Amino acid sequence: MTLRLGDKAPDFTQESTEGQINFGQWKGDSWAVLFSHPADFTPVCTTELGMVAKLKPEFDKRNVKVIGLSIDPLESHVRWVGDIAETQGTALNFPLLADADRKVALLYDMLHPAAEATSTVRSVFIIDPKGVVRLILTYPAATGRNFDEILRVIDSLQLTDSQKVATPVNWKHGEEVVILPSVPNEEADKLFPQGYRQIKPYLRMTKAKE
Ligand code: BEZ
Repeated sequence: MTLRLGDKAPDFTQESTEGQINFGQWKGDSWAVLFSHPADFTPVCTTELGMVAKLKPEFDKRNVKVIGLSIDPLESHVRWVGDIAETQGTALNFPLLADADRKVALLYDMLHPAAEATSTVRSVFIIDPKGVVRLILTYPAATGRNFDEILRVIDSLQLTDSQKVATPVNWKHGEEVVILPSVPNEEADKLFPQGYRQIKPYLRMTKAKE
């Protein structure tokens, strides 16, 4: 069955570079980013995994655990990890699932045979502390992802979960946000004592609380 936003993230147990992982236990009540890459020993994937390793402190700051996946076997992952450290200047510091039996790839619909006959596409799932899927992205094999964008979405999700706001186009942490249209001005006056700019009745800008 296709996963959609708001669905419960399916649980699984699978081999990884950090031993056998039960996803639910490993994630606990953190946020998680689960992402697949087409195959080991490929150039774009090598750069992506190096970048995610470099960004680990940023994920940690946001209480997010990251976990990668391809359908290559564990011994292949273990050999490739050395290349990532050598070429990207960062050792892998998060687990890589070895989904050789395709259990997780099938659960999360990461195999798109018409696009990629023998490998997973570049899927990203952001899963919240309650285990709910909050973002799904699918990228083609030849296009490396922008993991700063994943961090930006996490910032938006964490902010909009705690305040009655949404984040506008190209928003980044610290910039102005919009007040939800469902909040009447009388309530907005109380919720946003710092004030807001009303450009249109449905377009009210304010500074988010830190
Ligand atoms: C890569 O990761 O470099 C890659 C994988 C599959 C197709 C094209 C590029």
